[in-house]
Amino acid sequence: MSEWFTVRWVDGGVVLLDQRRLPGEECYLTLRDVEAVARAIEELAVRGAPAIGCTAALGVALAAATSPARELPELRRDVAAACERLAHTRPTAVNLFWALGRMREACERAADAPGADAAGVRDALLREAQSLVEEDVAICRRLGAAGAELVPDDARVLTHCNAGALATAGYGTALGVVRAAAEAGRKPQVLADETRPFLQGARLTAWELARDGIPVTVVTDGMAAHLMQRGEVDLVIVGADRIAANGDVANKIGTYGLAVLAARHELPFYVAAPRSTVDLDTPDGAAIPIEERGPAEVTHLAGQAIVPEGVPVRHPAFDVTPAELVTAIVTESGIVRAPFAEGLRALFRPPA
Ligand code: MRU
Repeated sequence: MSEWFTVRWVDGGVVLLDQRRLPGEECYLTLRDVEAVARAIEELAVRGAPAIGCTAALGVALAAATSPARELPELRRDVAAACERLAHTRPTAVNLFWALGRMREACERAADAPGADAAGVRDALLREAQSLVEEDVAICRRLGAAGAELVPDDARVLTHCNAGALATAGYGTALGVVRAAAEAGRKPQVLADETRPFLQGARLTAWELARDGIPVTVVTDGMAAHLMQRGEVDLVIVGADRIAANGDVANKIGTYGLAVLAARHELPFYVAAPRSTVDLDTPDGAAIPIEERGPAEVTHLAGQAIVPEGVPVRHPAFDVTPAELVTAIVTESGIVRAPFAEGLRALFRPPA
């Protein structure tokens, strides 16, 4: 089986696995300008909060590399414009804004350094974006190791959407926990919610787990209640696009319903996310911007109309799970339990 990757810098371009074509085709897109990177994010060629952040960071480095600017003020202007364009791709995943913040700071640091020139700023931006990507894999591995203890032997784990290697620079968050449990010999089995309308569970979670030899069964979104009622689920674990300061969690549409079901059936409901998904500036879930996507993803399936023409559809792409329904949040710095406001704040406190 060939090695694959989500997103990387290769020979002066941003290369990413086109997730719209999975599982049928494994093909990589080479993006040569920041507009192409922005469109790839908007059109879900790359998706998943940490992967969006990594791609945007590489996009800023690409904007600097391809800018014709010779002097620092012009280059700074082009970098700022690239950040602005990328910030308008997807509103919910806070990792995007976190990554752009890091790139803006790296630009300022390099441009304000004594003897700075445009070439030095370009190099600094590429180094920053590449280290952000490398760090993301390391963070997912630490997060996975921290969460593995939550997965008992032979656990039947229900997950939603794709919070795996495809949603990060590698290894994954929710699926990182599953991978770490599998590596520890616990033999987890995954139930992957299909995840209408973009089918991240059926197409992506199933694809990457099957490649790793981790047992995975795809179920449609409406089956979760039945399976829980029959005692066929031991725990739920999902990723997140943004975690508010009070512990409310925005994730793929359908997550909130699973949390309600998990509570009804007294099952643990875990959220796995890096610290870059925690947004202490957003007080609670009501303040999290929820992306509304175009109707075509709902009205059509594989290019085929499945809704009568002219009938309106709704398409909020995310929902908010209230903190009270979350059993624990797994991060690379450990497991946070209620009261979440305090535990999440502590994640960012410098060690004494
Ligand atoms: O619309 P998507 O596919 O970008 O939504 C992705 C999710 O909801 C994931 O669960 C979330 O980003 C966490 S990924 C580690």
